[in-house]
Amino acid sequence: MRVAVAGATGCIGSRLVPRLLAAGHVVTALVRDPSAPRAASLVSAPDVRVVEGDLLGPEGVAGCCRGADVGVYLVHSLGTGPGYADRDRRAAAAFARAASASTVDRLVYLGGLGDVDGDSDDVGHLHSRRAVESVLGDDRHDHRLTTVRAGVVVGPDSLSFRLMRQCAARLPVAPVPPAIETPCQPVAVDDVVRCLAAVVDDGAADVVEVGAPRARPYADLLAAVADALGTRFAVRVVPGMPLSAAALGLAAATDVPYRTVAPLVESLSTPAVVSDPRPAAALGVDPTGFETAVDEALAPTGSRVAPRAEQ
Ligand SMILES: NC(=O)c1ccc[n+]([C@@H]2O[C@H](COP(=O)([O-])OP(=O)(O)OC[C@H]3O[C@@H](n4cnc5c(N)ncnc54)[C@H](OP(=O)(O)O)[C@@H]3O)[C@@H](O)[C@H]2O)c1
Repeated sequence: MRVAVAGATGCIGSRLVPRLLAAGHVVTALVRDPSAPRAASLVSAPDVRVVEGDLLGPEGVAGCCRGADVGVYLVHSLGTGPGYADRDRRAAAAFARAASASTVDRLVYLGGLGDVDGDSDDVGHLHSRRAVESVLGDDRHDHRLTTVRAGVVVGPDSLSFRLMRQCAARLPVAPVPPAIETPCQPVAVDDVVRCLAAVVDDGAADVVEVGAPRARPYADLLAAVADALGTRFAVRVVPGMPLSAAALGLAAATDVPYRTVAPLVESLSTPAVVSDPRPAAALGVDPTGFETAVDEALAPTGSRVAPRAEQ
């Protein structure tokens, strides 16, 4: 198949493209800056056509889906500051238009796990992810959309895992809002990529939720990351502590700026759990446990680690 990938240089996209090539697909990669290191490796790869373009740029990205059968959307505007949700929707609309004007008949999107209404006025990254789902799946377009929904992706270069890792490494005792007890099911980056590749190959249900086998509170997961790092991490829950205060603290304790942290923390109260594991199981995805995923993310590049006991 011919697959057009937006976000090919990101944490997920840079792993998905080699997997698609290994499966025999021909890839078109949309990149903003062909001279950036991850884009440069795409430029030199056989069976990859690189199209330069910015989904938010005035010239548009009309040619990025030309000749493709499937479009994969792995883009977000987190970190661009106030108005990011509007940019999220505009970027998705540009890709959906490019797909509609081409031969693409299926779109695959990696969105967020959690039960929210993307049409509400609520803020937060998760709402914006769900709003993007509506834009890509807008029935004015005649392509079909499959959304893979994931919570925190555990991988060395995943932004949300970077926050967890730095938090667990640098904050021996953190004052936190009660939302730290919200359950979530993070997922290993390899499992997400496997799931996306399977959806590209075989199609799937409209929604495929993917997460580690067991839901656990964020506090518990942070303690497990500290354990893997050999540090100590304990939380002191402060009743009534606003999420904005938690975001300020997190931005101060890590190298991730407040404008990026704030939308993520806004979604902290929404359980990020799998409600139906059957579509992922039908694709043959059997997610790794959290401890193993963390060990793999913390291991030096390229090395696989022996699994340790899951809790
Ligand atoms: N990482 C997680 O924990 C996680 C969890 C659940 C869902 N997801 C979803 O997975 C998808 C991919 O996430 P990721 O972690 O791979 O993100 P990432 O590493 O930040 O990569 C984002 C990608 O989007 C591209 N991009 C951003 N704005 C663009 C624009 N205006 N025009 C064209 N390309 C643009 C970036 O290109 P440049 O290289 O030019 O910046 C990059 O390739 C997103 O939909 C995200 O919401 C991620």
